[in-house]
Order: sequence, then structure tokens, then C-alpha cells
Amino acid sequence: MRHFIDTNDFTKEELLDIITLSLLIKDCVKKGYYPPLMRRKTLGMIFQQSSTRTRVSFETAMEQLGGHAQYLGPGMIQLGGHETIEDTGKVLSRLVDIVMARVAEHQTVVDLAAAASVPIINAMSDYNHPTQEIGDLCTIAENLPEGKKLADCKVTFVGDATQVCASLGFITTKLGMHFVQYGPKGYQLTEEHQAILEKNVQENGGSWLVTDDPAKALPGTDFVYTDVWYGLYESELSPEERQRIFMPKYQVNRDLLAQCSLGVKFLHCLPATRGEEVTDEVLDSAVSLAFDEAENRLTAMRGLLVYLTNYQSDGNEYEQLAAKEKLDDFLEALE
Ligand code: CP
Repeated sequence: MRHFIDTNDFTKEELLDIITLSLLIKDCVKKGYYPPLMRRKTLGMIFQQSSTRTRVSFETAMEQLGGHAQYLGPGMIQLGGHETIEDTGKVLSRLVDIVMARVAEHQTVVDLAAAASVPIINAMSDYNHPTQEIGDLCTIAENLPEGKKLADCKVTFVGDATQVCASLGFITTKLGMHFVQYGPKGYQLTEEHQAILEKNVQENGGSWLVTDDPAKALPGTDFVYTDVWYGLYESELSPEERQRIFMPKYQVNRDLLAQCSLGVKFLHCLPATRGEEVTDEVLDSAVSLAFDEAENRLTAMRGLLVYLTNYQSDGNEYEQLAAKEKLDDFLEALE
């Protein structure tokens, strides 16, 4: 049984397996075959924050694969109120087959996983966003520059070191790609993040760089990625203060894209603050993959749900038949 808390807990080969599985199931669904791989399974969906893509894609994935999802939104269950995280993990493990949690603090999903006996999926914390990473790599894999493999690609994240930025750095370096964060000092990945990037590069090849120098960051970039400059957490600076720090140098606009590779593509996890971290002309342009990425959240959720639940045995065929015979005998006795 595996949890999905951090892509750094998985090997390069395992992550490629999840991405491949996700794309294979997507191909089935696109051709009209909905494999019932989550049949009789229930997903518990804990949300401590609002969500569009994550919530809708998990629920749709379960429905498409023959299972069921229960939305456990803010204030809807006892978590954090009358019940501890640990007890919530134990109880949900008796009631559902797999749980996803979007949490305010990373430790919450770590503690939930420690107590649970079913797979727990981190659906975003203040530290990372690993399900977003799988969808993003599906999108990159579907849009590789001509003649390039994943390991040849340079991915540059522009702006604030959000949890999406950290996650993008984690997965690209794990897959031996070339990762850059181009952001202002004070808003760059921490030494702890950088140590993880370095470890991944040592083990898997590729490279990483954190810089505020556009001449180092942008040339040769195949994929430019950005995220909001503020929005989720109370301790953040005000929108006006952020604008002063990031605008105009770190806005993804036509001028910034012109400094990258010919054929550069644009990525954004969404939601976007149009006119701030990205202009309309980029987000709505032919080089924008942002809405393909949103669709690939569903692609990734299907793959992850199947991958993680396949580690658990449903019992062998003999045990299932024996149980069915007992039930048939009991029902017969009632008649
Ligand atoms: N990208 C992302 O996680 O979107 P939501 O917050 O809408 O789920």
C-alpha cells in the first residue's frame, strides 16, 4: 500500500509508470471505452480549501471508472473539530477505499497518511501539489518539441516559489529534465527545496537553476510555467506589494516568450490572475497549454487512482467464490 504525498517518495520509473498509465486510460476514454477499474470502490475527498479542477477531476475520474466519490468539504466532517486527524484517518480507512485531502498545512496530510490503512493522496498542501505535477507531465509528454525527449526539455517556472513551483522542480529533476526558477530574491525556492533538486539531479541527470537573471533563465526554454503571485494564504503580502515586486519583469507576456526557444509552450496550473502573472494574449494564444493541463488533471487522477488502489488485493478468486457461496446459502435459507 502506497500513499501519494510527495513525488520524491517515488522513483523515476514509478512516476513514468503513473504518467504512462494515465495516458493509456485517457486514450481508452477518448475512444469511448471507460474501463471499470474503480468498480465497487469509494473515494473520500477532504477539502479544507476551495477547488475547481482538483475536486471536479477526482469526482469525474471515479464516476468514469465505475466508482463513487464523497465530497467532505470544509466543516462537513469532524476533522480538526471534535475528532483528531489520526482518528479521522483510521475511521475513513474502514469506510472508503482511498482518500484524497487538500489541506492548509502539509503536516495534516502527512499525519492522515500515518494513521490510515488505505492510500492517501495529497491533493495540495502549503508545501507541494503532486497531483498537479502528474497532469503537467502528461501535458508536456503530449507536446514534446520535435525531436526531443523529456530529458532534453528545459522547463522554466517564472515568478513566486509557490508549492506548484516546488512541485514542478521536484518532478522535472526526478525525470532528468532541466528546471529553472526565474524569480526575484526573497521569492525563490528555499535551500531545503534546492537540496532536493540537487539530489534528484545527482541521481537522474538533468540540471536545475534558481536565478533572477533573464539571460540565464529564458534562452533555450521549451516550456514556460507560471502561477499566481498571491492568493491562497493569509500571511501573504497584499496584491499591491506583490505587483511592485513582480511587475513587469516576471509577467509572462509576448516579450518574455520571445526570449525563449522558438516553439516555446506556455503552462499555468490555473486559476490565473489575468493581466498580472500572465497576459490574455499569452493565456489565450496558440502556444498556451493551460486548458489542456486542466483537462489532464482528470487524466492524472484516473491514473493515480488506479495505480494506488492496485497495490491492494481484493482477495483471490477462491476467497471471493467462497464468500459468494456463503452469501448464496444465507439468502437461500431466508427464502
Ligand atoms: N490547479 C488547481 O489545483 O486548481 P484548483 O485549486 O481549482 O483545484
